Amino acid sequence: MRVCDSFAHGFCSKFCYGTGMCGIVGYAGARPALNIVLDGLRRLEYRGYDSAGVAIVLSGDTDDGDAAGRRRPGELLTAKRAGKLANLEKALAEEGAHGLRVGATGIGHTRWATHGGPTDRNAHPHRSFDGRVAVIHNGIIENFAKLRAELEHDGIEFASDTDTECAAHLLARALQDAAGATPGEKLAEAMRIVSRRLEGAFTLLAVDVEAPGVVVGARRNSPLVVGRGEGENYLASDVSAFIEHTREAVELGQDQVVLISPTDIVITDFHGNPVEGKPFHITWDASAAEKSGYEYFMLKEIAEQPHAVAETLLGRLNETGDLMLDEVRLTDQDLRDVDKVFIVACGTAYHAGMVAKYAIEHWTRIPCEVELASEFRYRDPVLDRSTLVVAISQSGETMDTLMALRHAKEQKARVLAICNTNGSTIPRESDAVLYTHAGPEIAVASTKAFLTQLVACYLVGLHLAQVRGVKYADEVAAIIAQLQEMPEKIEQVLSMMAPIRELARDLAEAKSVLFIGRHVSYPVALEGALKLKELAYMHAEGFAAGELKHGPIALIDEGTPVICVVPSPRGRGVLHDKVVSNIQEVRARGARTIVIAEEGDVAVKPYADHLFYVPITPTLLAPLVTTVPLQVLACEIASARGHDVDQPRNLAKSVTVE
Ligand code: AGP
Repeated sequence: MRVCDSFAHGFCSKFCYGTGMCGIVGYAGARPALNIVLDGLRRLEYRGYDSAGVAIVLSGDTDDGDAAGRRRPGELLTAKRAGKLANLEKALAEEGAHGLRVGATGIGHTRWATHGGPTDRNAHPHRSFDGRVAVIHNGIIENFAKLRAELEHDGIEFASDTDTECAAHLLARALQDAAGATPGEKLAEAMRIVSRRLEGAFTLLAVDVEAPGVVVGARRNSPLVVGRGEGENYLASDVSAFIEHTREAVELGQDQVVLISPTDIVITDFHGNPVEGKPFHITWDASAAEKSGYEYFMLKEIAEQPHAVAETLLGRLNETGDLMLDEVRLTDQDLRDVDKVFIVACGTAYHAGMVAKYAIEHWTRIPCEVELASEFRYRDPVLDRSTLVVAISQSGETMDTLMALRHAKEQKARVLAICNTNGSTIPRESDAVLYTHAGPEIAVASTKAFLTQLVACYLVGLHLAQVRGVKYADEVAAIIAQLQEMPEKIEQVLSMMAPIRELARDLAEAKSVLFIGRHVSYPVALEGALKLKELAYMHAEGFAAGELKHGPIALIDEGTPVICVVPSPRGRGVLHDKVVSNIQEVRARGARTIVIAEEGDVAVKPYADHLFYVPITPTLLAPLVTTVPLQVLACEIASARGHDVDQPRNLAKSVTVE
């Protein structure tokens, strides 16, 4: 995967995969590390988190009466708590940690749970079996199950359910015979040994009680940046954590290990070869830093979509190529007994469910209905033990969806949740869960959550097909391989958005915009209309293209903008040709046609006033790329209208009332 190669200028020209979900801070210097690390975590709170923790290597006496005598130089102090930083600070007070005013080395972490729920025991840092090393981590270690089995086989007992704890134990073992002239160099060598064994996406920071004054970090496909100070240095997941202390930073590349001390920054690759980091001066203010230089969180989250899709796909296949879902408390037999699927959701999540319907029915041949959660339980649906209800929710707290889920359970149906928020109510009340790994979505308008919901729905459909023997493992693997190509295709679309921004300025004063599509492009049309409604406060409506002639075509007036999402000519060619006819029909009546079509589709050219190509993709996966121009269009029109893009009027990020 490509990573951001121009982070330096505050704006990733290559969409940065390195936008992990957790907040990470490291400090090596002469000032009180605990205060600096906590301040850094406070600066990262905007990212969203569900637990927090710190590890401090003490060096020097405390000057606090309470802690004096209880804390000795060369001690490794760790504290971590579920919930907000206030909980962590309470824990630190109980540990007698406040008052640590002397220079020390520290790391801190705010966690957005992926593997393992948001609990004290799963919070970071994690300590090694011998207590010597503390580690914090951002990302997903794909091969952690195998590593954990190896460590447990060697008698190491795990204190948590996390993939991170593997790294802590592996580091302590590697330290036992790592080469190095100093304890810090040994820690860096141990980090290289461990990093070479890890698969997936990770940023790791570690401290060693025998190496005071040193923090060592490693990164692969996950963010880590160095802050260069005067007699002190920083490591962080983004510059927000240290921007108040220094604006001199060093960008790290892929597969690199960095050692910081108060005076040194030493960077190597995973094999110990020295590497020059890319120094840059940070020009952002603190607010811009939180958005990684983007004007809105929504734009940042749109840009994070390649990474979010890649993370949601990570670790889903086991060694035998079988799909593994997160917490599937349903047996294969339960899934084989399923004879009907209902998908319940609201808003954007509902549109994801509409796309899922096509995929699930095509791959499993099980009938699948999609229902607005707010309507579901009031129509007294026919449900029983053989019904699988899939509840899709980014927040996991949407009351309409929660009430639909509870109704389904009362009717003895089995419930599977697709959710982006670990430990929220909807997954907690479900029989099985598949978490999207989009990371915190801060903008009210859902973007990266939507694309990762699509991926999760595809995975559920493939899992059902595989368990029921309708698809062989190699057929599933082939589709997974197609999905794994999608982050690059999404990134290609994101790199071609200039004409969309230009069109947005053109449409900013439109009174109404219509969207049409067929098959999986129909839900995309609905999603594009929803984005425009909720962001630009503009009338927008999506239609099944075949429905136009049954009434809506009367809406077409001279210059009415109609956004046409055209299916691939390679999949169901008949669908493509019918949509082309629909485009001709609206254009013949004066519409201004804006066409989203697959690269190479020349049939649409004569009827498109504006034509935007997206990469060729398998028919069912096309919404992963065709939705993106519509997200950007809505965001840019809202911006042109001077609206609060991240917090649109009348809307909440999570609707916890019915
Ligand atoms: C989409 O942009 C909106 N924010 C809204 O429709 C949202 O998708 C809906 O409220 C469902 O929220 P959930 O995914 O958290 O359940």
